Amino acid sequence: MSRDLIEAAKAARLKAHAPYSKFLVGAAMRDEKGRVFGGCNIENASYPQGWCAEPSAISALVMSGGTKVTEVAVIGAGEGLVTPCGGCRQKIREFAAPDVKIHICGEDGVIRRTFTLDELLPVSFGPDHLK
Ligand code: THU
Repeated sequence: MSRDLIEAAKAARLKAHAPYSKFLVGAAMRDEKGRVFGGCNIENASYPQGWCAEPSAISALVMSGGTKVTEVAVIGAGEGLVTPCGGCRQKIREFAAPDVKIHICGEDGVIRRTFTLDELLPVSFGPDHLK
């Protein structure tokens, strides 16, 4: 089940450093061993230097020896679906197969939509191109 993943994203979101946008985002990634890693967005007074929740989670996964992303959850507030931005889609692509599920959740942790990576980033460029 995805509950552990969603709970990790929810907890990560509450750690967001987002004093400028005040838009807190949490992400969680499951690795090939089933382990779950959370990450939050971290903004910066020099605005362009901030980064999204997704790369924070990917960094935690890689630092623990994970090599694949097998499931993703993203949590943000508001009416609109908080889907990963374009850059984040490509960062996930580095470690995830096209059929990997990306759950987009509300602040309450309820899944609002589930996409595959291929739906969010069709005809993508990935590591195989460089083999
Ligand atoms: N943000 C994320 O963390 N992930 C996304 O995929 C969309 C945007 C963050 C970046 C910034 O800190 C805040 O949301 C407002 O754009």
